[in-house]
Amino acid sequence: MRDPQTGYEMEPTTGLLSAQALFFFTAGVEPCANAIFSTLVLLCRHPKILEKVHQEIDEHFEKHKNNITYDVICEMEYVDKVLSEALRLFPPIGLLTRQCCQDTVLPVGNVKVAKGTKMFTPIYEIHNDPKIYPDPEVFDPERFSKGVGPMMIFTCHSEWVTGRVSAPGMPSCK
Ligand code: HEM
Repeated sequence: MRDPQTGYEMEPTTGLLSAQALFFFTAGVEPCANAIFSTLVLLCRHPKILEKVHQEIDEHFEKHKNNITYDVICEMEYVDKVLSEALRLFPPIGLLTRQCCQDTVLPVGNVKVAKGTKMFTPIYEIHNDPKIYPDPEVFDPERFSKGVGPMMIFTCHSEWVTGRVSAPGMPSCK
């Protein structure tokens, strides 16, 4: 197995593949459980939003004659906004860590970063920054309405974890 970008090679031994399978399982279970828990708690605290979620789900059950598939779930725009807002308020992973593997310069701000430097991305703080999300403590799924503005990019399922090293479970967990 060879990474085409870095040239890094690994032997796909049984041990390595088993470890990957176990990691995939644990990486999938914990954040999903957290996301479901925080979404349900927020919906309990906001009965009007819960009612709208219920209504949208009922409409889709009716429209698709109780045949709810993955594609049908993806059509539920309000449910999507509610999940996004719950993930913003309570990101299951609040901090990303990386170690720089070569001397580089960050394009934004022209910041020099030396090889070996440890970098932290404070997802929780970004999600709760009032300059990015006004009144960050308010649970407002409408923040994620289409065309709300360019500021809504810092969610844990957005630019910060897309690209080569991304969260592979994101489409399925949403
Ligand atoms: C709400 C649900 C989820 C959230 C919020 C989430 C979030 C994340 C985040 C932020 C990372 C990056 C961590 C880092 O680089 O330090 C990550 C990585 C990862 N996630 Fe998820 N995830 C979710 C669901 C899932 C599911 C369902 C699976 C698998 C079925 C999964 C498998 C993975 C794996 C394997 C990685 C490591 C990727 C890599 O390092 O190349 N995740 N996830």
